[in-house]
Amino acid sequence: MAKIIDGKAISAQVRADVAAETAELKEKGIVPGLAVIIVGDDPASRVYVNNKKKACAEVGFRSEEFALPADTDQSELLALVKCLNDRSDINGILCQLPLPKGLDDKAVIKAIAPEKDVDAFSEENVGKIMIGKYDFLPCTPAGVIELLRASDIEIAGKECVVIGRSNIVGKPMAMLLLHENGTVTICHSRTKDLAEVTRRADILVAAVGKAKFVTADMVKEGAVVIDVGMNRDENGKLCGDVDYASVEPKCSAITPVPGGVGPMTIAMLMKNTLKAAKLQNGIK
Ligand code: GUN
Repeated sequence: MAKIIDGKAISAQVRADVAAETAELKEKGIVPGLAVIIVGDDPASRVYVNNKKKACAEVGFRSEEFALPADTDQSELLALVKCLNDRSDINGILCQLPLPKGLDDKAVIKAIAPEKDVDAFSEENVGKIMIGKYDFLPCTPAGVIELLRASDIEIAGKECVVIGRSNIVGKPMAMLLLHENGTVTICHSRTKDLAEVTRRADILVAAVGKAKFVTADMVKEGAVVIDVGMNRDENGKLCGDVDYASVEPKCSAITPVPGGVGPMTIAMLMKNTLKAAKLQNGIK
């Protein structure tokens, strides 16, 4: 029987720590502020944005939503980002991705002031992560590291395999595991004999975006399996990138979907926003 890594409980602890620090900041007259931009009406993005706003309220932040229509043009979006960069009461800015067709997400990310880039998506923040000298860590990979740490799972010296090479998850995930002294392999759609590579993993992170992609034959007995996926199965039920029913009996620990990595992403966003507010107010 695998240990089920409880992302709900671990994220609640992170949010409680953020709330306690926020209460202290309030005594100094500082209230962290997060601006959340959503363009168009993608239903998944709407759920994520609502959850982010709710988390802000729970930890004591101010949040402001900027909901723009799908036909917003690039210059309007960039003008909004510029205006938010200039506002001293806004400490963090995030633009929910994906953007509707026709809008350039890279240009929007580039426009966000690096000190307010609480997603850590900008070139400057990604570069800082590469050299291990960063202010913000990308929320999902940082959440995975926190899950492992809170579960007393050692990373140093372990074979870590990441499936997926996105800029948001796969690549930074590999870098953070490397910072923790794991031996890291990144797999992707062109990897030859994927199952042979994933079976080497002591820690396997699935970030492919395909429902139930990781099956039992791809997992070593006793491995730790982290599922970053958020998909719908053939019955429309929420599921991860891992075929949980077949993989769970084989591993030593596993994250469920929902209730694993998902809640951590938002908790780490709260952590980054708090840090942004502190840095912008000269507090270490
Ligand atoms: N879309 C999916 N995940 C994320 C995320 O972590 N941040 C933003 N801004 N958009 C996303």
